[in-house]
This record gives sequence, C-alpha cells and structure tokens, in this order.
Amino acid sequence: MLLENKKILIMGIRNKWSIAYGVAKSAYENGAKLLFTYMGEENKDKIKELISEFKGSKAYVLDGASEDELVKETFTKIKNENGKIDGIVHAIAHANTEDLHNDFILTSKEGFSHANDVSAYSFVLAARTAQELDMLNENASLVTLTYHGSTKVLDGYNVMGVAKAALEASVRYLADNLGKKEIRVNAVSAGPIKTLSAKGIKDFSSILTVVEEKSPLHRNVTTTQVGNVATFLLSSMSDAITGQVIYADSGYNIMGV
Ligand SMILES: NC(=O)c1ccc[n+]([C@@H]2O[C@H](COP(=O)([O-])OP(=O)(O)OC[C@H]3O[C@@H](n4cnc5c(N)ncnc54)[C@H](O)[C@@H]3O)[C@@H](O)[C@H]2O)c1
Repeated sequence: MLLENKKILIMGIRNKWSIAYGVAKSAYENGAKLLFTYMGEENKDKIKELISEFKGSKAYVLDGASEDELVKETFTKIKNENGKIDGIVHAIAHANTEDLHNDFILTSKEGFSHANDVSAYSFVLAARTAQELDMLNENASLVTLTYHGSTKVLDGYNVMGVAKAALEASVRYLADNLGKKEIRVNAVSAGPIKTLSAKGIKDFSSILTVVEEKSPLHRNVTTTQVGNVATFLLSSMSDAITGQVIYADSGYNIMGV
C-alpha cells in the first residue's frame, strides 16, 4: 500500500462531495492514517459521522485557514496529539459570490484580497506553520488543489482564477524553499466536479458538459480519481516530482478548441 505508516493531514473536508473526501478515501485505502481540519464548530458531529469510516482518524476545527494565529493553534494541537506527519493536502478555497457573478473587472479590493487570502495564502501559511512547528517528517509531501481557470479564462471563475494562479506560483516557490529538507510540494489540477464550492460558479453545469464533449476521455472526473493522484503525490512513488501542477481532468487542458 502506497501510504502505509503515513500520517496525512487533509484540510478542507465539508461533506461526502468534497474533493477532500475523495482524497481521504483513496489515502485511507492506501494505508494512511488520516487527520482532518474542517470549518465550523457547529459541524463537529456531522464531520465526526462523515469520517467514521476512516478508522483511527481525527478532525480538528479550523475557522480561518488564512489566519496565522488560528493555524498555529490548530497545528500545535495536531502535533501534540499525533506527533509528526508525512503530508498535508490543502483543499480550501473561497471567493465572494458577487465576485463570481459580476464581470471580473468589478472585483473589489476586499474581494480580491479575500479570495487570495483564503485560497492561496492559506497554503503558504500551512506549509510555513508546519515547518516552524517541526511537524513534517523528512520526505513529507504537500499537495494542494487547483483548477485550469488559473491559466485560461473561464467565464464566472474570475478572481478565483487569479487566486489559483497565485496558488500555483506558490507551489513552485515552496517547492524550492522546502526541497533542501526533502519536502515536496505539488498541485493537482482537478477537472470540474459538482461540490458545494463549485455551486458558487455561474453556469457550472455547462462546464461539465463541455468537458464531457471535448476532453480526450469524454468524461468528467470523480473525487476519488482526483484523490488517487493526490495519493500518488503523497507517496514515495512520486519522489522525483516537486513544484508541479498535475492535471486530473480527463485530458481536457490539452485541447485547443
Ligand atoms: N469542485 C471543482 O470543480 C474543483 C476543481 C478544481 C479544484 N477545486 C479545488 O478543490 C478544493 C476543494 O474544493 P471542493 O470543490 O471540494 O469544495 P468544498 O466546498 O467541498 O471544499 C471547500 C472547503 O474549503 C473550506 N473553506 C472555505 N473557506 C475557508 C476558510 N476561510 N478557512 C478554512 N476552510 C475554508 C470549506 O469549509 C470547505 O471544506 C478547492 O481548493 C477548490 O478550488 C475544485
């Protein structure tokens, strides 16, 4: 099993449609022990129930993945209770609804900062905090989730595309900083999947239809398929890979028209 004896922290589980859940399924089936962060103390019981199938897993509330002190507090608790970990999967993003519905040019300063803070800075913060608290084992692997809207214009993805571009650049800089410590950093660029976050994107269903029509594999991807790519990146099978954005999108990104 690819992740035997590895402890993996998965940030951003919300429900069974979450990409984080698909990652958890794949990592667990490959032998990982799982730790989670989720948002909203009021969701505690729901999350407990959701992750009960992952034996031995634990979940920690994190109500602000871009807040330095909160992340430090949560990660300290995680390290104290579980010791060092072997990987982090960051599956967190958010933009204000109006910034996904209006034209991009209308993005406010606050909306621009918010999307970049929550969706890109939070990954840098997770990496830095984990390093400062010495919670990563040698050969640890950090993985984040991104989307094609970072490099191509998709109507309605707007400021989230800008945030994903920042996230992907952060992957490369973090990979350089952490490479000396034998820690790898990569992103999985997932094809569109109907999750709660995706519901905020205008005309999301038509994006799914286009991927099915135009991608080389003529089908959309599942959270477990995306999770399998994350498992590979978390495992030593990918130990020559760092600083990369790996597409799990049925090949859609290679198409011209
Ligand atoms: N669904 C897609 O089509 C798709 C495609 C490519 C990439 N992604 C990315 O996958 C990741 C996971 O999203 P998802 O589609 O599974 O949706 P989701 O709604 O299930 O997950 C998003 C998570 O982000 C968390 N979150 C939002 N703001 C937060 C904050 N301030 N602090 C802490 N947590 C916060 C939410 O609580 C939730 O758990 C995101 O980065 C998303 O951009 C999604």
